[in-house]
Amino acid sequence: MSASPQAPSAQAQSAPAVPHKRIVVGVAGGIAAYKACTLVRYFTEAGHHVRVVPTESALEFVGKATFEALSGNPVHTGVFSDVPQVPHVRLGQDADLVVVAPATADLMARAVSGRADDLLTATLLTARCPVVFAPAMHTEMWEHPATVANVATLRSRGTIVLEPASGRLTGKDTGAGRLPDPDEIGLLATLLLERADAMPRDLEGVRVLVSAGGTREPLDPVRFLGNRSSGKQGYALARLAAQRGADVVLVSGYTTGLAEPAGVDVVHVKTAEDMQSAVTKHAPQCDAIVMAAAVADFRPTTTVASKIKKGSGEPDSVALTKNPDILAGIVESRRAGRIPASSVVVGFAAETGDAQGDVLTYARAKLERKGCDLLVVNAVGEGKAFEVDHNDGWLLAADGSESALEHGSKSLMASRVLDAVARLVHSGRE
Ligand code: PMT
Repeated sequence: MSASPQAPSAQAQSAPAVPHKRIVVGVAGGIAAYKACTLVRYFTEAGHHVRVVPTESALEFVGKATFEALSGNPVHTGVFSDVPQVPHVRLGQDADLVVVAPATADLMARAVSGRADDLLTATLLTARCPVVFAPAMHTEMWEHPATVANVATLRSRGTIVLEPASGRLTGKDTGAGRLPDPDEIGLLATLLLERADAMPRDLEGVRVLVSAGGTREPLDPVRFLGNRSSGKQGYALARLAAQRGADVVLVSGYTTGLAEPAGVDVVHVKTAEDMQSAVTKHAPQCDAIVMAAAVADFRPTTTVASKIKKGSGEPDSVALTKNPDILAGIVESRRAGRIPASSVVVGFAAETGDAQGDVLTYARAKLERKGCDLLVVNAVGEGKAFEVDHNDGWLLAADGSESALEHGSKSLMASRVLDAVARLVHSGRE
């Protein structure tokens, strides 16, 4: 980490997170093939150039015309179409990213054995860019030793194989093997365009608690004290930690209706006191606790049981009671031995500067006061940190080191924070 971090420049802050790229969307033959349409839409709406390469069996589920209309490009399955353009090598060579969604057990087995008997497998052999597989299959197939071995082989070769979601499969079955939400695949894939090495499997065997979103402190049945947290930053951390191999518990306050990340246990809470109970319950089993939630510092002292009516007895003022400081409580629990001394504690700070000091001055004081190992600092203001899709800031560590976190997606910010978390967790285990 550098000693004196520079604030991200104004130019960097206004630049798009990822300039337009060439993306190949591979589609294998499974019922989840219809969700590839949403993924293609996700990429084209972000301005990327998309080529869809389905297998023959994928076209049993979704017609070629649908993929052509959504991508605005021709769609072929075999290596003998459009031969003068040599697509069986060109598509892979020219791609900035290849995403296969859904990736079936059969497609992964063919990729492992280096087959090139259709356009998709030939493209996989020639691609030198990041390649992402989003598996979708029945739980039995996902857990079969052959698939487990194929996933391990693909990962050992640098292919990113996403953790599948759990939930409803084809028919009445439920279990692990469901395709992650297309928006989630889109977010993770786009992260690789910002940072190709953002998804190492460096958190395998690590248990991570992430808090996210905002708490709501009720005044009456319809009104509350709250804040503008959308949950996007915390969900990005939880999602990426799971894809880097961690067992993740996400303690989620209110969000803007975000989908639960694949492979993550989500505990929904409402108030700061609920969040404190959930964090206190799960923290002792965790190696890292990352507090990205915006917790209300105060709550109305009294919650009125029925709606306060306008014009008849509404209060002139609302008395407030201080909420527990959950992060400080975690640090105290570690000091007192109620959670392992080796656990890594990360706080977030949404700060503004004023006449007395700038953002970093306040953040350094907060790191000292809270006693956590790392503090992620966001400068807040109109269009910054809260609600938006991008972020930047600084990472301050208890050892005095400081580094700037460059402007980019909230996934990129999450990846930088998790790099530091992984380093600390592993150094504590040496
Ligand atoms: O959700 P998004 O729209 O994506 O926005 C992300 C974010 C701006 C909310 C996030 O990046 C962020 O900065 N979260 C912390 C915001 C905040 O409440 O900061 P704070 O300075 O008030 O709190 C400092 C730390 O103490 C935080 O880790 C907070 O979780 C924790 N805290 C605060 C109050 C309290 N009573 N208990 C706590 O544990």
